Amino acid sequence: MKVVAIVGSLREGSLNMKLAKFVQQRYEEKFELEILRLNEIPMYNQDDENNPPHSVQDFKAKVKAADAVLWVTPEYNASIPGVLGNAIDWLSRVDKVMIGKPSFIMGASMGNLGTVKAQMHLRDILFAAGLGSPVLQGNEVYVGAAHTKFDEAGNLTDESTVKFLDTVIDNFINWMQK
Ligand code: FNR
Repeated sequence: MKVVAIVGSLREGSLNMKLAKFVQQRYEEKFELEILRLNEIPMYNQDDENNPPHSVQDFKAKVKAADAVLWVTPEYNASIPGVLGNAIDWLSRVDKVMIGKPSFIMGASMGNLGTVKAQMHLRDILFAAGLGSPVLQGNEVYVGAAHTKFDEAGNLTDESTVKFLDTVIDNFINWMQK
């Protein structure tokens, strides 16, 4: 099973990137996870959507080839970051590579609410006509106070979060296999 992770933060020390990498390593026996960075994705322009830049072509091809998408995103101003919305706009057009593709959402923030609003919005967006992605319900991963939960090597050190991830990842796999 091949999954791609789309991380909604560009910054070097991103907590969401740490979370994606942790998932990649901890569950490598269960599924292959390729992490896609959005750093090279230019601003969506409808004039270019039929012949997008190479970085966008590559990004869309990887999403298309994957069995599922894991979204790992911060919350910016009570919603999803602009870079993530921009990437989603590319995915939603022309060949509409997200249609029918299962999605699973998680997010990390420094605050206690751990991306609740961003995830609510992302869930709604994924139901839009150009996306049509079924989202795993009832397994919502909000990693609050995330800056206190990783060690220097990027390991998630908070035991209850790791235990919870073990459960929801199994649920995700069972759901995808159906
Ligand atoms: C934030 N942050 C934030 N946090 C939150 O819980 N709710 C919010 O609405 C916002 N808004 C917001 C806007 C902008 C422009 C920035 C830069 C930050 C804080 C955010 O959760 C924190 O910076 C995370 O660490 C960002 O994720 P990465 O980059 O560490 O993955």
